[in-house]
Amino acid sequence: MKRVFSGVQPTGNIHIGNYLGALKQFVELQEENDCIYCIVDMHSLTLPQDPKLLRKNILDVAALYLAVGLDPENSIIFVQSDVPGHAELAWILTCNSYTGELSRMTQFKQKSKGSESAPTGLFTYPILMAADILLYDTDVVPVGNDQKQHIEITRDLALRVNNRCGETFVVPEGRFLKAGARIMSLDDPTSKMSKSAENVHSRISLLDDANKIKKSIMKSTTDSEGSIRFDIENKPGISNLLNIYSAFSGMDIKEIEKKYEGCGYGTFKKDLVEVVVEAISPIQQRFHEIRNSSELVSILKDGGQRANAIAEKTMKRVKDVFGL
Ligand code: ADP
Ligand code: NA
Repeated sequence: MKRVFSGVQPTGNIHIGNYLGALKQFVELQEENDCIYCIVDMHSLTLPQDPKLLRKNILDVAALYLAVGLDPENSIIFVQSDVPGHAELAWILTCNSYTGELSRMTQFKQKSKGSESAPTGLFTYPILMAADILLYDTDVVPVGNDQKQHIEITRDLALRVNNRCGETFVVPEGRFLKAGARIMSLDDPTSKMSKSAENVHSRISLLDDANKIKKSIMKSTTDSEGSIRFDIENKPGISNLLNIYSAFSGMDIKEIEKKYEGCGYGTFKKDLVEVVVEAISPIQQRFHEIRNSSELVSILKDGGQRANAIAEKTMKRVKDVFGL
């Protein structure tokens, strides 16, 4: 069995990009692998958070994990800050990283915009992520395409320590889905759909109601050509909608193009609304049941204990290697 690890930040507005790029893979992988899924609350602190809202968002992500089909009997589901090894290992890895390699991270460059007062945590974020992964001897990391560079630096850090100190870490690999790996924003299909974008119609949140979903899809940016054809370069908007349609329906892009040959964008968008609503309404129903049940907190507590037992073993080994 392979060890699988991944996480989602509890920063609100979990959207269909997070679902199609990451959560959907989490569920697929859980039967045949040894899976650990984390709510990475310490990553959220890289930008200022309201403490009450953060607590609420942690429980929301936990409930969504269960609502999409993660099974706490089968997978470990836990909150990052419940396991001290993440921060501990992050420091050891920090001391084995180079400021140059961190400076090259595109996510840091985008989020800091070159500001002198960008939080240091934003700069060292990829190291905390590497610690999350390496702490569990992870083989496979299911994530969206935007995480490719962070997986690369995780591998570099693991290999560097292994070369310097002898076999210490398992060197992990990223796992990316074809259709869902990069869902773009609905109003600007050249940038990725994100939790934080100001325009709520740029994304479809997993908890949006049918009316909101309809509005966002019908308003989405397309082009003036009028044909439903996959062409990322020249038709990024329609290509993104085709991707979303394909990922939710399981149909090939080619099949979808054929089905809508000669149809206008309006018809296609209306059908896409139905496809999306049909796919996510059962998730929403389960979310509301689970979110209000008392079980949620005990599932996280149990997950934290199971994760910690694994993490402690790794930390013992790592401390030994470094003479701590
Ligand atoms: P965000 O980037 O939305 O703040 P996270 O950093 O918590 O979300 O990422 C959670 C997971 O969702 C990661 O695996 C990330 O690669 C994936 N993801 C985020 N945005 C998208 C997107 N637009 N399309 C596909 N996957 C995405
Ligand atoms: Na499993």
